[in-house]
Amino acid sequence: MDILVINGPNLNLLGTRQTDIYGNKSYEELCNEIKHYAEKKAVNVEIQQTNLEGIIIDLLHYAHDKKMAGVILNAAAYTHSSYAIYDAILAIDVPVVEVHISDPKTRKEAFRHTSIIEPACIKTFSGEGLNSYLKAMDILRGLKNAA
Ligand code: DQA
Repeated sequence: MDILVINGPNLNLLGTRQTDIYGNKSYEELCNEIKHYAEKKAVNVEIQQTNLEGIIIDLLHYAHDKKMAGVILNAAAYTHSSYAIYDAILAIDVPVVEVHISDPKTRKEAFRHTSIIEPACIKTFSGEGLNSYLKAMDILRGLKNAA
């Protein structure tokens, strides 16, 4: 099964960005650990990172065109602002799981407490770092096995 991981703005700076919140793991380490887990579970995973909202939308369309089994989406700050990404998730025929490294709902900035995209996603995993991604992969594997 094919799964696309989409990481949004500033996630490329993991490891140096606000390490008190996001931890010390670098972006490359995160990707390697996702790939390692996918390999163990016989999942064909592709990981993309972009700082641009429109590219996130193009990647969601790409997952649809490729008939992928699922998308794991960390839309980063676009989570809290993007109706265009919400619409793109609704427009595609691919289940999308929302993930976050931190738990935005418990952070101090009020704007993080609302996820615009959450109602369009089948599930959300927050506050678990790498594990948010791995749990998302497990949910998508479960869907595929149930089909
Ligand atoms: C994030 C949480 C968002 O609020 C923030 O804008 C990010 C990262 C996370 O993974 O914890 O950039 O999505």
